[in-house]
Amino acid sequence: MQLDALNAIATAMTAPGRGILAADESTSTIGRRFDAIATENTEANRRSYRELLFKAKAAMPYISGVILYDETLWQAGEDGTPLVKLLEAAGAIPGIKVDEGAEALPNGRGDLITKGLDGLAQRLPKYYAQGARFAKWRAIIDIAPGQPSYAGLLANAHALARYAALCQHAQIVPIVEPEVLMDGAHDIDTAFAVTEWVLKEVFQQLYYQGVALEGIVLKPSMVIAGMKCASQASVAEVAERTVKLLKACVPAAVPGIAFLSGGQSDVQATAHLDAMVKLGPLPWPLTFSYGRALQAAPQRAWGGKPENIAAAQAAFAHRARMNALASQGQWSAELEQEAARN
Ligand code: 13P
Repeated sequence: MQLDALNAIATAMTAPGRGILAADESTSTIGRRFDAIATENTEANRRSYRELLFKAKAAMPYISGVILYDETLWQAGEDGTPLVKLLEAAGAIPGIKVDEGAEALPNGRGDLITKGLDGLAQRLPKYYAQGARFAKWRAIIDIAPGQPSYAGLLANAHALARYAALCQHAQIVPIVEPEVLMDGAHDIDTAFAVTEWVLKEVFQQLYYQGVALEGIVLKPSMVIAGMKCASQASVAEVAERTVKLLKACVPAAVPGIAFLSGGQSDVQATAHLDAMVKLGPLPWPLTFSYGRALQAAPQRAWGGKPENIAAAQAAFAHRARMNALASQGQWSAELEQEAARN
């Protein structure tokens, strides 16, 4: 393993002023997004959609890396240029989702376990040869009465650490993503306590598996009440709680932290990132690795129609720029409205 090279990639992925586009929806997940815009989930449509994002000239300067789904890594654009080459030409590092989704953990009382470790050591060199320089693995932690169980939490943290070690040996930077879901009715105190437990366990397992923290990117969820909770915290409180938690759990050796959006609204995800960065200086740069919070607007603008490509690219550029400003603590609600009017 060449740790300096891994560290340089992780540092580039999380450099302030840029962030990661998570465009790695599985075929079934992108199908749900396409359903919402009455677009058929065909290979051609998935390719056209992702190609329009990667060709968005006004957006890509704000994008340090793009997480791809396996299919996209091998696809070529309309004129035959591999999509990976489009990303490289735009200065974005290609990455690949390597987990294979989640299934119920036996005896897990509802806990899920992420699949995909079998054969991963053999898959990684192929991804590297195709241009991928980082990978993603998402562990899902759901909060419900009696959940997560320690067994579920431990199994997920262990799998994340095993994946991360395999990636580093293949000279690929692992994005370590433990996502505490915001679907439930839990309050922010519960979100804090569970996320703390998860991060403590994840870093313990990374240590046991010999993962070099200098060569990872952490992709956490923010500390936020469940969507069904009647009492929602302010932006300032979410920022303050999340930063407090990260300081207590994430060693300074980690080169950068890139958040998931997890179902927050576009502007909420931006506002939270901005508020956290403004609490700095912090031991690590904070940026975005958003899926929905970057893509909901372009998807609506596109609607599956070629004549809407420019509008979709403009919508993507707007969100990318707002989040890039947030990663530097330079965003404001006024700027958001002003930019939207132009
Ligand atoms: P969201 O920002 O939509 O949560 O997606 C990010 C991601 O990569 C989830 O695994």
